[in-house]
Amino acid sequence: MAMEVRVNLLPRLLNEETDVAVVIDVLRATSTMTAALHFGAKKIVPVLSVEEAKKYREDNFEVLTVGERGSKKIDGFDLGNSPRELSEEMIEGKELVITTTNGTVAVSKSKRARKVILASFLNLGSVVRLLKRESGRIELQCAGTDGDPSLEDTLLAGALVSQLEIGHINDSCRISSVLYEAVKDNLESFILENGVHAKRLVSLGFFEDVGFCAKINLYDLVPLWRDGGFVRG
Ligand code: MLT
Repeated sequence: MAMEVRVNLLPRLLNEETDVAVVIDVLRATSTMTAALHFGAKKIVPVLSVEEAKKYREDNFEVLTVGERGSKKIDGFDLGNSPRELSEEMIEGKELVITTTNGTVAVSKSKRARKVILASFLNLGSVVRLLKRESGRIELQCAGTDGDPSLEDTLLAGALVSQLEIGHINDSCRISSVLYEAVKDNLESFILENGVHAKRLVSLGFFEDVGFCAKINLYDLVPLWRDGGFVRG
């Protein structure tokens, strides 16, 4: 079966007809989850609400609670949603439960696909290599920001479309790849100067997170959904 790709600039509710769902939330959920697996997290369980995360921890004593609301760390949680907060010392061998405003919503809409993976610029090359071995329908699920498509997610979708060179299902493939090709040499500054969410993160003191999340191929791994959470694939 040939491979075809669809870009969803906002996440659609997927079903079993999708062979691979690629969840994208560059700023910052999929970057953070990718970094956490790089630092040796055993498993990352994404949930929709703060209450669910707290309940999950009550039932599993050793779990670390991670996440944000309004991009800020949630009261009582162990960690916020910054990939730069993470270290091997803190994370290795631990299970994490995470809730974020947009990223974990995109995950929840993707779960019925046959295979679900996470993409960020940090693991772009590894995701491309994995997808080149797949066939059928691939959906690139951009989380967006608060109901609007986001520049940085669209750019990563565009990078994937450009590098995969396969059949396109919708115009969003072209929109994203044309944008990526136009700005790929100045990715970080383009996002910083133009992205609404990037500007908000800067105003909250997370300037360095934006640059970090625009780094390409820092990590060689693909977070893969297995038994209720993401593990190193
Ligand atoms: C989200 O899921 O909405 C984001 O990751 C927010 C953030 O930048 O922390």
